[in-house]
Amino acid sequence: VTRRQLLASGAATLAAAALPWPMQASSAAQPSATPLPTAALDDLLARVLALAARAPSSHNVQPWLVRLAGPGRLLVGIDPGRRLPEVDPAGRELALSVGCFLENLAQAATAEGLRAELEPAGAGEAAEALVAVRLAAGPADGSAADRLRGRRTLRSGHLPRPLPGADLRQLLALAGPDAAFYPLASGEGRRIAEATVEAMRQQTGRDAAQQELAGWIRFRDEDVRLHADGLTVASMEATGLAGFVMRHFFDASSVTGRTFREKGIEQCARQVTEGAGFLVLASSGPGVPALLEAGRRLGRVALALPGRGIAAHPMSQALEEAPWRDALGAELGLGGELQFVVRLGCVDRMPAPVSPRRPPAAFVRP
Ligand SMILES: Cc1cc2nc3c(=O)[nH]c(=O)nc-3n(C[C@H](O)[C@H](O)[C@H](O)COP(=O)(O)O)c2cc1C
Repeated sequence: VTRRQLLASGAATLAAAALPWPMQASSAAQPSATPLPTAALDDLLARVLALAARAPSSHNVQPWLVRLAGPGRLLVGIDPGRRLPEVDPAGRELALSVGCFLENLAQAATAEGLRAELEPAGAGEAAEALVAVRLAAGPADGSAADRLRGRRTLRSGHLPRPLPGADLRQLLALAGPDAAFYPLASGEGRRIAEATVEAMRQQTGRDAAQQELAGWIRFRDEDVRLHADGLTVASMEATGLAGFVMRHFFDASSVTGRTFREKGIEQCARQVTEGAGFLVLASSGPGVPALLEAGRRLGRVALALPGRGIAAHPMSQALEEAPWRDALGAELGLGGELQFVVRLGCVDRMPAPVSPRRPPAAFVRP
């Protein structure tokens, strides 16, 4: 399918064989509508959406929903069936994740010689259709696909050295106005580390939050293939014997058990001592448009990191548990409302992404 055909035909019907993936079963979470038959997505749009879907999302729930709204037109929103009511009751992280998806979508379009023009879908639109996207012909960016394919969250192996000054300046420029970086050894860095561990301890002690997490962990390889979402043994970076034991012997009841909780807190306490520091990013306000925008800004930073040998690890515990979000917000004195705390660190080598993704056919609705 050429760019022109896409723009002219929109969701042209093509043979299912033209699609680069097999149709997969939908997740255990209840999607809000019936998945689109695979054959109804044309392959250019499907390629753009598959790259867009490499965006980060909390617990890897992939909460984006895309509707085909005519030739070269999409509506992007939040899938309410993928909410995390325990750790994200207001849907703040869902909107941030969809913001990351929108930034990925904009950059994925350029990988295919398209330009994505985004605008609010209009008053009265439901959460499922927040942003109207028009795909028009645009300049191709040859490096965009590699950038999107190389981005990942990396929680281990952050080196104990500062970020190069030039990189830091450029990353802060991408992060936009309400963002700051605090080295681990700074007073603010130590305060963020402390709040993160305390919030982790509190969250881990909440049975309902732990049960919710358990519902999004895919221990078995067949569950990873079946759901293509959530956290996996590989994405949690459990390797060697620990990884083997988790893959074969762990289940949801392990997550709510004492050992898993204690190890989680220990790991968090170690992680906050590793790397260079914390990037903190705020939104201009609490509304969904501001959250989508903050998600886009974080997405922009995230896509600029692998090429610089910098790893990113969002650590949201302090933003999810009261009273730390408000306390940190007041102490750091950034404008707006805190939305992301991301630990950054240099790495010698950026490993390839391992986190699974659902194919566009699972999140596109006719
Ligand atoms: C809003 C948001 C919050 C996140 N919070 C955390 C977090 O608290 N801890 C963590 O380890 N990862 C966090 N992540 C990273 C996701 O777990 C990660 O993006 C997802 O598992 C997909 O993996 P990938 O980024 O390697 O593709 C967060 C991501 C987003 C977008």
